[in-house]
Amino acid sequence: MRSAASPCRVLTGITTTGTLHLGNYVGAIRPAIAASRQDGVESFFFMADYHALIKCDDPDRVEASRMQIAATWVAAGLDVERALLYRQSDVPEVCELNWMLTCLTAKGQMNRAHAYKATVDAAVAAGEDPDSRVSMGLYCYPILMAADILLFNAHRVPVGKDQVQHIEMTRDVAQRFNATYGEGANGEFFVLPEAQVDAETELLPGLDGRKMSKSYDNVVPLFEGGLAALQAAIAKVVTDSRLPGEPKEPEGTAFIQLWDAFADAHERAAMRAELRSGLGWGEAKQRLVAQIERELGPMRARYEQLMADPEALEAILLSGAERARAIARPLLARLREAVGLRRSRRLTGAQAMVAKEALPPLVKQYREDDGRFYVKLSQGERTLLLSPGFEQGRAAGDWWKAVKTAPHPDPVVEAALQQLRELDAAKAAGKARP
Ligand code: TRP
Repeated sequence: MRSAASPCRVLTGITTTGTLHLGNYVGAIRPAIAASRQDGVESFFFMADYHALIKCDDPDRVEASRMQIAATWVAAGLDVERALLYRQSDVPEVCELNWMLTCLTAKGQMNRAHAYKATVDAAVAAGEDPDSRVSMGLYCYPILMAADILLFNAHRVPVGKDQVQHIEMTRDVAQRFNATYGEGANGEFFVLPEAQVDAETELLPGLDGRKMSKSYDNVVPLFEGGLAALQAAIAKVVTDSRLPGEPKEPEGTAFIQLWDAFADAHERAAMRAELRSGLGWGEAKQRLVAQIERELGPMRARYEQLMADPEALEAILLSGAERARAIARPLLARLREAVGLRRSRRLTGAQAMVAKEALPPLVKQYREDDGRFYVKLSQGERTLLLSPGFEQGRAAGDWWKAVKTAPHPDPVVEAALQQLRELDAAKAAGKARP
């Protein structure tokens, strides 16, 4: 069991291609937002826009899609003070970790990735060269995904069934990294994440009763097209041809599953009773539209507001990225040190002093024999700052607070202060909030 002090980290990436439909909302967005409100959960949601480049070379589409999808999550009620919402590409540490992991990944393992194999199969079936549709981005897709997850040491990763293999690959490379570099003082670097496959994700039917999916062309758009598009889509939900007044069996119909996704227990029972006693499909569908609109209407208004004011959304995303980077940087510093991307350990004299600065800065408050209180900032063997002696411990504390929050003119001191600020930010972000 994890204590409240070290919350469970839940992380998921959102592909930023295409637009969203009701199935995405009911299956993924709504449950993820609900889960992010639980105590002891720290949520990370990001637009996987580095991944988007694998599938899309239209810059305007990449730009538009990541904003639309971010706006959707905010409009749907994600608490962005609590959860971290960011664009993957605003956290460039992802790329550096991606490279470290790439160097530990066997080509043979990538050969076995389902998504890659499916692309090869499609090319072969079309009579093309097996590799004709495979970029190195696509081939290495699972490694970039592992970097997304491991950079934040996520414990749980909610994904669709098709992504489970990628989480297994993530565990694999994490284990390999831990085993290769994690001996002795280094300890372990990475948590092994678990895939979380929500059964509900598969549930919402589309207009024709099959799973709602763009590839079946049976979707109800989420916000696009407004209420009119929602009405038009629901009108197309397939039903039997019973007339108003004839009893209808609701169980198993696409209609009732859509209804259930937006109704409470009482409303579910009431709708079944009414259909059984002859409510017409037309009338029932109008009620379904009203029922969905009750939940989505206010969200759509918020969505349109956000899309009309990209500055507010940009600020949310940049703040998410800042908080994410404050968590990522200290880990990446440890990883660089571990793999040997560090200053030579054979340096002597002044250079060795500088190299020691790779060690984390330390702050100590203490009382001297003179009875006064002092604060010392040091890094390795070097003292960077020493406060004057204070009569009161509190005064020493205040001195330190003032020093830490202000930019320091000496770049070495400033770098140490910055590291401490980032550690504080990471700790604050890691604390479960009530
Ligand atoms: N590949 C995921 C998808 O297509 C998106 C994704 C990218 C992701 N990075 C991730 C999901 C990290 C979970 C964790 O749905």
